[in-house]
Amino acid sequence: MTWIDLGNPVPRGVPIPYQPVIWDTGAHFVLSALPEGLDRPFGEVLDERATHRCFAGINDQQLGAFLWHACRTRDTAASSLGFDLEHRTAPSAGAIHPIHVFLKRPGDEEWWMYNPQSHQLFLLKHGASRLPGLYEHSLQVLGGDDATRMLFVAEPGKTAGKYHDACSLVWRDAGALLAVMALTATAQGLNFCPLGITGEPWASSLSDQGKLVGVGLALLGSCAGA
Ligand SMILES: Cc1cc2nc3c(=O)[nH]c(=O)nc-3n(C[C@H](O)[C@H](O)[C@H](O)COP(=O)(O)O)c2cc1C
Repeated sequence: MTWIDLGNPVPRGVPIPYQPVIWDTGAHFVLSALPEGLDRPFGEVLDERATHRCFAGINDQQLGAFLWHACRTRDTAASSLGFDLEHRTAPSAGAIHPIHVFLKRPGDEEWWMYNPQSHQLFLLKHGASRLPGLYEHSLQVLGGDDATRMLFVAEPGKTAGKYHDACSLVWRDAGALLAVMALTATAQGLNFCPLGITGEPWASSLSDQGKLVGVGLALLGSCAGA
């Protein structure tokens, strides 16, 4: 095989300020503000975590709790990078969190963007017209009309503002996020499956500013028949 060398990331002497993508979003959907806690013992969650590939629908409460525990921003800190640093459940190189979570719910043509600071979903304008090919593509990899499909879209320029050779950091951030999501789903008694496809070429078309790249998808659902 050919191993593609992504280089060896080191912090820049002087950061390059980055202007984050400005998203064209519409209506917002407020997720439950006080999701129920996860009371399943952590050791049990670690022992039980497994990929399950059948999916029934999840309700707003379950989706809100999943995003709250796995993705929300708990704290921010000012930086000279052009955006705030953040603290979330998943670790992220430089506390930069360059990966956005979009999701498509069963029966809904639209894609929604999760805002981890406000814990809201924002309708992605033109998402339905730009991403239908991606939906079909993901169905070929793993079916499931009742699954909530998540797309992970990175802004590598955020991490590259702080590090030389930042690409592998972005991919490792994607892995860290997948692991946290998988454990969160298990703790909630939900089914979760990552997909190996990246979301390209659709993900990068979400902005005409050349700043985006797809770094994966995942499916979430409740246990069918439960
Ligand atoms: C990066 C990544 C990509 C994956 N891609 C797929 C996929 O495209 N389709 C699929 O059915 N499972 C996929 N999986 C799930 C793995 O097949 C699964 O984790 C593996 O079989 C081990 O099973 P376990 O998770 O139950 O331990 C992926 C997992 C990871 C971490």
